[in-house]
Amino acid sequence: MPNSPSDPVRPAGAGASEAASGEARRVVMSRKGPMLVEGPVEVELEDGSVVSSDRFQVALCTCRRSRRYPWCDTSHRDRA
Ligand code: FES
Repeated sequence: MPNSPSDPVRPAGAGASEAASGEARRVVMSRKGPMLVEGPVEVELEDGSVVSSDRFQVALCTCRRSRRYPWCDTSHRDRA
């Protein structure tokens, strides 16, 4: 079955070497916040461009409100 938990990880670009070593990359999901991904990462956007970050952990925007998309800029938080 495609995309099942047992499918091998095949990240694009530089991440391939980590996948080949057998180490799983951790992704932390939250209902109302960003997706936290262990870095470094490369993110391919819808237009085919690629952005990268060397941080040890990266927050990816899942709400589409970030002015720095695909990076979370905390715009997802409720403002009073
Ligand atoms: S998830 Fe934080 S700005 Fe979108």
